[in-house]
Amino acid sequence: MTDLDGQVAWVTGAARGQGRAHALALARAGAHVIVTDIAGQIDTIPYPLGTSAELEATAAAIADAGGKATTAVVDVRDADAVNELVGQVRTDHGRLDILVANAGICAFNPVDTMTTAQWDDMVATNLSGTFHCVRAVVSVMKQHRHGRIVGVSSGAGRGGMRDLSHYAATKWGIIGFIKSVALEVGAYGITANVVCPTTVDTPMVLNPASLKHFRPDLANPTADDARAIFAGLSPQGVPWLQPEEVTRAVMYLVDDPGNTTGSVIEVNLGTSASRA
Ligand SMILES: NC(=O)c1ccc[n+]([C@@H]2O[C@H](COP(=O)([O-])OP(=O)(O)OC[C@H]3O[C@@H](n4cnc5c(N)ncnc54)[C@H](O)[C@@H]3O)[C@@H](O)[C@H]2O)c1
Repeated sequence: MTDLDGQVAWVTGAARGQGRAHALALARAGAHVIVTDIAGQIDTIPYPLGTSAELEATAAAIADAGGKATTAVVDVRDADAVNELVGQVRTDHGRLDILVANAGICAFNPVDTMTTAQWDDMVATNLSGTFHCVRAVVSVMKQHRHGRIVGVSSGAGRGGMRDLSHYAATKWGIIGFIKSVALEVGAYGITANVVCPTTVDTPMVLNPASLKHFRPDLANPTADDARAIFAGLSPQGVPWLQPEEVTRAVMYLVDDPGNTTGSVIEVNLGTSASRA
C-alpha cells in the first residue's frame, strides 16, 4: 500500500468531486494534504462551482479518516495567490512533494457563438491555472530532489469534442505542457504525468445545463435521462466513472518510484479505444 507518511500533497479544486476523492486517498496514505478551491463562481460557467462549506467538508472527511488537511481558498487563475499559498506551505512544512492540478471548469459553447470571455475563462482556469500551480511547486520539489506532479486532462484532451473546443484546447494544452515539464524536471527526481478521465459522476458534466445539451428534447433532463447516451459511448456500456476510479490512476502515479514520467493514463471506459 502507498506510504506517504511525512509527505505534503496539494490538490486543487478539492471542494468536491474528483479533487475531494484524490485528497482523501492521499491523506489515507499518510500525506498532509493542502486542499484548495476557488469556493466562488465564474460568470461564464452555467453550474455552481465548489463552496467553502464543501471545502471544509473535504477537510472534515480527511480528519474523520484519521488524516491531516489544511484548507485555503485559492483561485488558480490568480498567480500571486498560488505563489502565496506555496510560500505558506514552504514556511509551514518545509516541503511539498505532490501536486494534483485538478481544478477545472467546463461549458458547452459552439465556436461561432462563443464569447471571448467564455474562451478566456476556460484557458485561464484549466490551462494557465495548471501552469501557475506547476511553476510554483517545481522550485520546492527541486530542493528536495523529489516530486510527483499530476495534471488532469480529459477524453477531450485525446480527441475533439463538439461545442467544447475551448475545453478541448485546454486539455490538449495540459498534455503538451506536462510532457514538456517532465523533460525539465526529470533530473531532479520529479515526475510529471497526466490522467485523462472520461465522463465522471460530478457536477461538472451531470448538471442541468450540460444534461440539456445531451437531451435537448426534454425540458428538465436528469442524469438518468442521459445515462443511455453516455453508456453508448463505452464498449462496456458503463455511462460514467465514479471519482474514486480516477483516484486509482492518480495514486499509481504518486506511488510510482520514478519509472513513469511524461506519460498519459486514460481512465476511459473504452471510449477512446477506436482512436489512435
Ligand atoms: N467530470 C467529468 O466528466 C470530467 C471528465 C474529464 C476530466 N475532468 C476534469 O477533472 C477535474 C475535476 O473535475 P470534477 O469532475 O471533479 O468537477 P467538479 O466541478 O465537481 O470539481 C471541480 C472543482 O474545481 C474548482 N474550481 C473551478 N475553477 C477553479 C479555479 N479557478 N480555482 C480553483 N478551483 C476551481 C470547483 O470549484 C470545483 O470544486 C477538472 O479538471 C475536469 O476538467 C472532468
